[in-house]
Amino acid sequence: MSQNLIQNTISFVKEKLEGAEAGHDWFHIERVWKLSKKIAELETCDLEVVELSALLHDIADPKFHGGDETLALKISQEFLESENAEPQIIEQVLFIIKNISFKNRGEMPAILPVELQIVQDADRLDAIGAIGIARTFNFGGFKNNLMYDPEISPKLNQTKNEYKKSNGMTINHFYEKLLLLKDLMNTKEAKKIAEQRHQFMLEFLDQFYKEWKVE
Ligand code: ADP
Ligand code: NI
Repeated sequence: MSQNLIQNTISFVKEKLEGAEAGHDWFHIERVWKLSKKIAELETCDLEVVELSALLHDIADPKFHGGDETLALKISQEFLESENAEPQIIEQVLFIIKNISFKNRGEMPAILPVELQIVQDADRLDAIGAIGIARTFNFGGFKNNLMYDPEISPKLNQTKNEYKKSNGMTINHFYEKLLLLKDLMNTKEAKKIAEQRHQFMLEFLDQFYKEWKVE
């Protein structure tokens, strides 16, 4: 594995994500990268593909780029080619970036390469627990959404389009996504980490409602 390529990718991503919303910034990428390496230790996989995919997976999130779902692939391909990465590595990394997203889970291939399973788990772990809660409220604030409205109930089983358009209140995002993630983990290690983070979110919600009602 070329450490040089990894270092250059880190610099590239840091620069690209300058000024990004705090839930999708370099620190999110760094956490996903570290979690990916941790999970990868227990799996048989191509570590270079895992690391590159983790580093590049949010290089151009469609949410922040007018819905363009091909931009991240284009930017990543151009970057990796300019670094003279091997074509078969580039192909695997692009496949992962294309298929990692929660909102695309309905269109996913049936069998996922282990490298995709790992990075997807790491990305999903960063969406739950204390960090997940913080990211979700930060995103809601960024969008100027309400934190909570007891009159609006969450919409389960949303289509991809409904999910993307949702500017509902932040507490509903827990029911529409965050609390579903524990059961969607691919690897054994991620399932274990998710269990504890999931419990923490349940406790948070419990406390939130108690304080809301001023009991
Ligand atoms: P993916 O990129 O896997 O499809 P999203 O981009 O929808 O997933 O979500 C990434 C993170 O952004 C979520 O885990 C959450 O923290 C935040 N987020 C996305 N949509 C919302 C929303 N409607 N309300 C609050 N937070 C959101
Ligand atoms: Ni991400």
